[in-house]
Amino acid sequence: MLFIGILAVMNILMCAPKFFDIAYEINPWMHTDNPVNPSLASTQWEELYNTYTKKLGWKVSLIEPEDGLPDMVFTANGGLVYGQKVVLPTFRQPDRQPETAKFETWFKSHGYSELHKPRYDFEGEGDALFWNDVLFAGFPWRSDKPGHAEIADFLGVRTVSLQLTDPRFYHLDTALTIVNETTVAVYPQAFSKESLKAIQSIVPTVINATDEDAVAYGLNSASDGKRIVIPEGAKNLQEKYRSLGLDVFPVPISEFQKSGGGVKCLTLFL
Ligand code: ARG
Repeated sequence: MLFIGILAVMNILMCAPKFFDIAYEINPWMHTDNPVNPSLASTQWEELYNTYTKKLGWKVSLIEPEDGLPDMVFTANGGLVYGQKVVLPTFRQPDRQPETAKFETWFKSHGYSELHKPRYDFEGEGDALFWNDVLFAGFPWRSDKPGHAEIADFLGVRTVSLQLTDPRFYHLDTALTIVNETTVAVYPQAFSKESLKAIQSIVPTVINATDEDAVAYGLNSASDGKRIVIPEGAKNLQEKYRSLGLDVFPVPISEFQKSGGGVKCLTLFL
């Protein structure tokens, strides 16, 4: 992250929804009989892209979409980046496994020098979020807990494993938002008691999202610490953020939620 004045310039990787579709069902949101409206998906993705680039001045890089890889649009699962180091994804579902090679090629051709392929299942930033120097890592739906130590070792960071308990919130980034250096938001019901306690004991301010916020994918948001981009349906969370003094940018994500994705899933922090 680069600080200009008081605002951070975020570097992001996105992938246009050219081949985005519900071609298989690998989470409770996906139903092949509830197809994506391609032109609406494209409009919504562009609104997110324009919010990042034009309204917030964030820098967005793009990876070429690939025919037959409909979920590549969810770049959060494309890896976990820490300086020049990248932990590549090892997708649990065979349908998404060919994405790894695409992201690997992108990272290699963009100057990332140390790439690591974990032995255990690991779905990138979807299941691993930095809060200051702590790496919160989710399990068990898509990433394996034993892999967290391997990632901690490779990156040289402290990892805190968090157990997700609700299959609707199967990636960590669907149940937890990094808001700023003192604050995170969570959907408490998506975590085991111990994991919720762990978050509360580490982070000074933990905002609890309502059921309504969580179901609107409100936890799947992207923040630079002062400004937050959030699915438009998560009204309560938006109000809470405003009362904390954050600038809030609601965006529509209906087409991506059909696939179990939202703002953060479409975003990989570089
Ligand atoms: N359909 C995708 C899947 O189930 C959605 C991925 C959402 N990504 C995320 N970072 N939560 O894998």
